[in-house]
Amino acid sequence: MQTIVTDLPEEAAWFLNRGGIVAFPTETVYGLGADAFRPEAVAGIFTAKGRPADNPLIVHVQSPDRIDEVASGINNHALALIARFFPGPLTLVLKKNGSVPDIVSAGLPTVGVRCPSHPVAAELLGHCNHPVAAPSANVSGRPSSTDWKAVYHDLGGRIDCLLRGAPSTIGLESTIVDCTVDPPLLLRSGAVSLESLLQVVPDLQVATTCKPGETPKSPGMKYRHYSPEASIVLVVESPKAFDPGHPTAWIGLSAPPEGAARCMVCLSPEEYARVLFGFFRTCDAEGIRTIYCELPPETGIGRAIRDRLFKAAGK
Ligand code: TXA
Ligand code: MG
Repeated sequence: MQTIVTDLPEEAAWFLNRGGIVAFPTETVYGLGADAFRPEAVAGIFTAKGRPADNPLIVHVQSPDRIDEVASGINNHALALIARFFPGPLTLVLKKNGSVPDIVSAGLPTVGVRCPSHPVAAELLGHCNHPVAAPSANVSGRPSSTDWKAVYHDLGGRIDCLLRGAPSTIGLESTIVDCTVDPPLLLRSGAVSLESLLQVVPDLQVATTCKPGETPKSPGMKYRHYSPEASIVLVVESPKAFDPGHPTAWIGLSAPPEGAARCMVCLSPEEYARVLFGFFRTCDAEGIRTIYCELPPETGIGRAIRDRLFKAAGK
């Protein structure tokens, strides 16, 4: 399949409106979209990514007033979160309505809904006559794509169109809150922090990590995610120096030990989040064998960084 690369949201929407699959920028990570109401188009996403069929997709809508195209019975917790955080890097799990095909929700009675704040994504959605189901635009198991070149590397030749935009400014996937349970449950950490969610929903609970054999609250929680080919070492106490004979990289907020073949010292947790997945990909391209990742403090976006690092390390 030929992948058309374009800068024009209208051209990308042309493909979506005809049942094609299209990668597009959002403020979190790039998404891989299809018409949420066409099961055969959505099936193309699972094939292109190699995604397990039991992992549901997030549905993207252009504005909060279009949520009722996919969800119903929206309760007060959800209304408060929508009022405070939409559009933005937050996904709400809501009761789905009958128009959402089972392939989107992986057979669940619920649907994840997000309204991106990214202007190019908003323009794209505005040209579509339907909501857009979209997971992250990477091959399943690989780090999410935060720039169009990463999307092309993973999916070029496997999708109809790639809408090119600037690199994602947040760099980690959206925060997910399940609003179908009372109290609501934080399923995935992201740029909308636990602290800011608690200001709106003081009794919010945090989902515990799923142990082997348990049914996860969010199907995606059971898959190993975000992994580069290199092995990940979570740094609690930094080694003094690396073995120069072993290609090793370092990413964190502090200065690296001596001997790193590549290193990235971030000035803030926000920068750490923005560059992390791109750093993983660069390390793979350069044949780095081990990436030492410093754990940031567990506040603000630090909680989401730690979550992705634990998953990348297979913990
Ligand atoms: O920032 C993001 O959320 C990006 C951009 C493209 O919007 N999308 C994204 O999608 O990260 P994906 O498919 O990579 O991750 C979606 C996660 C999965 O872990 C999935 O299991 C969970 O959301 N999910 C989707 N629908 C759900 C539902 N109805 N109930 C529970 N979890 C759900
Ligand atoms: Mg993903």
